[in-house]
Amino acid sequence: MKLLIMSYSYTGNNEIFAKSIAEKLNMEHICITENKKRTIGTIIADFVLHRTPQTEPSPQVMSDYDLIIFVAPVWMGQPAFPLRPYFNELKKHPQKYAYISLSGYANPELPSKLKHITGYEATKVIELHIADLLPPEPKPTPQTISKYRLNEQEVNTLAKQTVSKLKEERII
Ligand SMILES: Cc1cc2nc3c(=O)[nH]c(=O)nc-3n(C[C@H](O)[C@H](O)[C@H](O)COP(=O)(O)O)c2cc1C
Repeated sequence: MKLLIMSYSYTGNNEIFAKSIAEKLNMEHICITENKKRTIGTIIADFVLHRTPQTEPSPQVMSDYDLIIFVAPVWMGQPAFPLRPYFNELKKHPQKYAYISLSGYANPELPSKLKHITGYEATKVIELHIADLLPPEPKPTPQTISKYRLNEQEVNTLAKQTVSKLKEERII
């Protein structure tokens, strides 16, 4: 099975997480980058205006693979917007995909959002939550969650758990 990890990260968490998963599985890993500088302002503007950002590489890089594993944050309950060009491509040319996210907290609508965007269900959706890494008190807030950066040990543990889950469920 030919596998590809495509990751996007704004503050770094999902990038090191994706890198660790790719290393453990000895898989190809592509980091999605944007032509314009991303800010909180452009996240809100893309949300409101439903814009598709300009990214690298071209979505055609996905064409050769049996499963694309996206690793990226959730923004406003949705997959991070720099993934839109790739989901648009999947809508035109369906391929098996999974979405793994190191997000802030549980986003129960994520699988249905993915289905809505691509036109079909993801093979697997896995969410890991920053809120679970923070002490319960004081209660995690969007600010404390957004500031949180994973350390090496946390990345390693979460990546190991994720790889085991993917193997146990025979996704890979
Ligand atoms: C503008 C913005 C909106 C966010 N919205 C959500 C959300 O709806 N659900 C969630 O679980 N986390 C949300 N988060 C938290 C991020 O998913 C979380 O901080 C993630 O670890 C960031 O990943 P990154 O470091 O790879 O960019 C949001 C973060 C930002 C900056």
